[in-house]
Amino acid sequence: MNVIAVPPERIDLDADTYLRWLRVGDAEAVARAVDESLDHLKPWMPWADTQSTDVTFQRNRLRQQSQQRERTEEWQYGLFRVADELLLGSFGLMTRRGPGTLEIGYWLHPDVGGRGYATNAARALTTIGRRVRSIKQLIIVCDEANTRSAAIPQRIGYTLQRVESRTPEASGETGRMQIWVFEGSTPTATR
Ligand SMILES: CC(C)(COP(=O)(O)OP(=O)(O)OC[C@H]1O[C@@H](n2cnc3c(N)ncnc32)[C@H](O)[C@@H]1OP(=O)(O)O)[C@@H](O)C(=O)NCCC(=O)NCCS
Repeated sequence: MNVIAVPPERIDLDADTYLRWLRVGDAEAVARAVDESLDHLKPWMPWADTQSTDVTFQRNRLRQQSQQRERTEEWQYGLFRVADELLLGSFGLMTRRGPGTLEIGYWLHPDVGGRGYATNAARALTTIGRRVRSIKQLIIVCDEANTRSAAIPQRIGYTLQRVESRTPEASGETGRMQIWVFEGSTPTATR
């Protein structure tokens, strides 16, 4: 396994899609995709509100993102369609769970759900994340009511390690958060 210092700027997934670090120049596309996805995101993403559909808000957020990358704290990727560079969703690798751990977060535009895009992207980030220096495990955290989200770590070969309780932060949440952990070296290739 080739060790890397930080996750790469671009990850080619297949002939149709790729992941790339989000830049300030993507603010308009992010704001539009969030706006179009708002009803689908609100039950699960505490940040999904009208403010996050604002281009200036997203520009400021993405400006901070480049600083977070420089501090090797967090890498937020857009999922893009090769054919027309359309932003299909967003995926993050985050160090907020402490040393040695990378957490993967994700959301998809509802128009492109049900095709395996999120599973493929999370699988690729799992493979890459395992190669980042000093990373021992990848985790995915989701509310136990968010069954579509929980299906993703299950498809890739994560193990449910524990359930933590916290105050619900979004309207669909129970507050019972599943902690899915991947400690192997190769994610499951099939569905
Ligand atoms: C969580 C979320 C990204 C999952 O989206 P999704 O469309 O279910 O996930 P995928 O893109 O991986 O698609 C999986 C579906 O495609 C099917 N599929 C087709 N080809 C596939 C392939 N090659 N690989 C895997 N699945 C494939 C799967 O069988 C599955 O079908 P199903 O919906 O009938 O079960 C989406 O529901 C979302 O954005 N939710 C709101 C935000 C959110 O909850 N984020 C997570 C917070 S923890």
